Amino acid sequence: MKFDILTLFPGMFSGPFSESIIKRAAEDGLIDIRLHDIRDYAADRHKTADDAPYGGGAGMVMKVEPLAACIEAVRAERRNSRVILTTPRGKRFDQALVSELANEEALLIICGRYEGVDERVRELFVDDEVSIGDFVMTGGELAAMVIVDAVSRFIPGVLGSADSSASDSFSDGLLEYPQYTRPAEFRGRGVPEVLLSGNHREIAQWRRRQALQRTLATRPDLLATAQLSDKERDYLEELANGRRS
Ligand code: ADE
Repeated sequence: MKFDILTLFPGMFSGPFSESIIKRAAEDGLIDIRLHDIRDYAADRHKTADDAPYGGGAGMVMKVEPLAACIEAVRAERRNSRVILTTPRGKRFDQALVSELANEEALLIICGRYEGVDERVRELFVDDEVSIGDFVMTGGELAAMVIVDAVSRFIPGVLGSADSSASDSFSDGLLEYPQYTRPAEFRGRGVPEVLLSGNHREIAQWRRRQALQRTLATRPDLLATAQLSDKERDYLEELANGRRS
């Protein structure tokens, strides 16, 4: 997977992309991340990338010309990129969108800044506007890092074979069950007996029920679209009515 990131602050990316799984994936050639400084494409002496909004109002708007020049330079090499603009007004980034984006050949991510980006950038170049949540950050750079990280996990070979995106929270529409590792007791708190039993069928059933309980407690909205058996729906109903624990 190829990622091109267009930003006014390329220095922000050096930490997150030079550690751990993303670093290894890049070294192994499974992902290719290129950073492009939008300011390099500004035509004037001062490398101006933003300007005051037409119509007045607070803040600055990212100019269309440097962005257009930067996007076109990148696209000359990577014709098939899907173009994403990170912005709080975009559609919500979720696991379904992650797996959809992971099927693309290349992603071109524009990091929005200031009060926004000239609307003509969106009209001319952008396929999707994406928000990572209902809050406003100082810019889209952190959102771009989130997108690269989450999408990379879906690229075959990026996660070790022991690890897998198939058992993630959300992969079956539920939150993940609780995990434990040694020691078997810590400050008087033990590990659920069933996990020490070696009975894989019972362990699987316990985990599934824990996932259902957690999802009901924390994100009941997910249950509407989760893939559940009739028995599991009955179990949830009993839990919700306080007849089960
Ligand atoms: N830029 C500022 N806030 C953002 C958000 N929540 N998602 C994506 N880009 C952003």
